[in-house]
Amino acid sequence: MADASNGNGHEHGPVRYAAADGVAVLTIANPPVNALGAALRAGLAGAVTQAGADPSVEAVVVAAEGKVFIAGADISEFGKPPVPPVLPDLLEQIEAMEIPVVAAIGGTALGGGLELALACHARVAKSGAKLGLPEVKLGLIPGAGGTQRLPRLIGAAAALKLMIDGEPVTAGGTAPSGLTDAVCEGDPLEQAIAMARSLAQSGLRRSRDADAQGAREEFEETAAALLKRNAGHPSVAACVEAVRATFDLPFAEGQAKERAAFLSLVEDTRSKALRYVFFAERRAVRPVGAAADAQPRSIDRAAIIGGGTMGGGIAMCFANAGIPVTIIETGQDGLDRGLQRIAKNYDISVKRGSLSEDARDARLKLIHGSLDMESTGEADIVIEAVFEDMALKKDIFGRLGQLTKAGTILATNTSYLDVNEIANASGRPEDVLGLHFFSPANVMRLLEVVRGEATDPAVLATAMKLGSVLGKLPVMVGVCHGFVGNRMLAVRNAQAEQLLLEGALPQNVDRALTAFGFRMGPFATSDMAGLDIGWRMRQATGQSAPVADTLCEMGRFGQKAAKGFYRYEEGDRTPHADEDVSQLIERISADRGVSRRSFDDREIVQRLVYPMINEGAKILEEGIANSASDIDVIWLNGYGWPAWRGGPMYLADQVGLQEIARYLEDLADELGLESLRPSALLRQLAAEGRGFSSD
Ligand code: 3HC
Ligand code: NAI
Repeated sequence: MADASNGNGHEHGPVRYAAADGVAVLTIANPPVNALGAALRAGLAGAVTQAGADPSVEAVVVAAEGKVFIAGADISEFGKPPVPPVLPDLLEQIEAMEIPVVAAIGGTALGGGLELALACHARVAKSGAKLGLPEVKLGLIPGAGGTQRLPRLIGAAAALKLMIDGEPVTAGGTAPSGLTDAVCEGDPLEQAIAMARSLAQSGLRRSRDADAQGAREEFEETAAALLKRNAGHPSVAACVEAVRATFDLPFAEGQAKERAAFLSLVEDTRSKALRYVFFAERRAVRPVGAAADAQPRSIDRAAIIGGGTMGGGIAMCFANAGIPVTIIETGQDGLDRGLQRIAKNYDISVKRGSLSEDARDARLKLIHGSLDMESTGEADIVIEAVFEDMALKKDIFGRLGQLTKAGTILATNTSYLDVNEIANASGRPEDVLGLHFFSPANVMRLLEVVRGEATDPAVLATAMKLGSVLGKLPVMVGVCHGFVGNRMLAVRNAQAEQLLLEGALPQNVDRALTAFGFRMGPFATSDMAGLDIGWRMRQATGQSAPVADTLCEMGRFGQKAAKGFYRYEEGDRTPHADEDVSQLIERISADRGVSRRSFDDREIVQRLVYPMINEGAKILEEGIANSASDIDVIWLNGYGWPAWRGGPMYLADQVGLQEIARYLEDLADELGLESLRPSALLRQLAAEGRGFSSD
């Protein structure tokens, strides 16, 4: 509650007020990230009013506790009725103060947090503090004057780049000049107080009155390039419009334009989906159940068995995080090949300028090679990434159970195999779990953390923490064939194959999915991965896919054979529709007595996605995924589901489960496939008029 008196140490909600020698320091303490929710806005408004009303106060400093100065507006308030003071009004109040207000930015300042600093009359930042306007990542634009103040401080072109990149710059590093007034090592508070005092003498300058916009031509060129690169993103177009207004309109009118665009984007379905994803990803990485209370073990050294495609990439993840790692292979040639591939990957990063030579050398030094399984003896975690072969994996886990010290975590990177069976082979299943990295493992963010039936909660807690340390997005899942992601993928792929038999061609299916927002369709993706992988698995499990199997029998294994579902020209990965494949598909349909018909994009998407959603519902029913939003996070980060569509389970809620259940009933009847009938959970939620999301 605001305190009416003018004394020291008074609280304005999450804002502490302390005045000394003419300077009032307002310290924000709104953990975890000082988001500008209603209580903080009210607290700041009260504290600023108190400072302005006190004749003994000649300047104000706004500081914050914690590593984050202010993470921006409180995203969870978007879409709810606004509670005054709204952020733009609060920032106007700050900027309009007759006495100087200086921001002491001791850590990350994002979105509305940076906008607050821009409304102050000067900014002192700790060297390295991250400063950014990431609103476009939420499908929004800065909505508290950022599009109007920033161009006036750093130039319109630079401001637009910062907003549309969405990535933070660093104070004293990549920040454009004009963003901060001073950068210091350590806590910026003292310097901010000194600057506030000095401004009290020399007079303050408001960002709204500054005039550093730069040439209009430069802005228009930058805008045209950014619009081209981000075609179809309404927030990018709105950002350009708002910044352009700084050339054409007075501040207040420009800000009104910004506000109107912001409020309309908040209601946009794409922004709603992106905000859902923001919270879904943060929920996913939090351990649940007994793992939430378990103490993670420390991981100082790792070993990887198998230095192939996955093993090499996983080793890079450890080296990138500064953790020494030993790769164990069976032969010198294989080991050399693996290590060379890693060195080559780092060299590419150096050439691209994303890694320094020193950093590359430091990382390579952390990666060791060995031909001896006994080298696992010192490791705190061993990750197995050998061929997908149960007998081989069981043999390896049997040996690891003996060779490694007590408490060493033993993980398998298997894509499909039964983690419980592998765990039992070790003789200490409590230490075993699956760590399902995605390819390329050093790039892809998703990590399925597979909980075996005997896995110790501390092992799960360690894996979730380790995932974050490795820069991954760890999501906990249970044991089943293909876990969450690949299990749903198999359902989608089966439907894609079925559509070929009924009348679609690979290019029709892929076009429908790219129009939906995927970067690649299922057939182009299969060609890239190699058709032989699925073929071998189908042979092993007694399944069939008439078109894909026939292509494999013809040696059409995909890109590596320059032909698969598509044909490829030499040295080029662009898929070209292949008349031979069309004829082959038509022949297979005819052989099966199927009369072909055409499918439009909408029907193709429904046919591929609704059965996936049904599989997701079964996964929830079986407790394989902890929540529908975890399933979405997996599809967004491992399989290229477009973020602005929120994920398959989110989509299901938007469409309505009744409609999806009805569609699946009809499809199951039409194809005579009981596996397509809506799952019990889907039926129940549909009957109750509910969705998957508990929010
Ligand atoms: N609003 C509400 N909650 C937020 C939040 C925000 N802006 N930023 C973070 N949180 C919450 C997270 O949900 C999480 O909650 P949980 O503990 O219950 O899961 C908690 O704060 C910690 O967040 P992180 O796990 O992300 O913490 P990190 O330390 O890894 O990262 C961060 C800190 C870099 C600040 C990161 O949280 C982040 O990027 N936040 C969002 C920044 C952002 O998008 N700001 C723009 C908001 S839009 C805006 O300002 C509009 C304005 O122009 C009007
Ligand atoms: P790969 O064939 O590229 O590499 C396997 C490596 O293991 C080879 O270098 C081989 O020499 C080595 N190896 C075999 N037996 C060994 C032993 N006894 N001791 C030490 N090394 C041994 O295979 P890839 O693609 O890396 O796959 C490995 C595992 O990761 C498999 O279980 C696979 O299912 C899984 N996976 C693969 C993904 C992919 O996209 N390639 C994605 C996610 C998981």
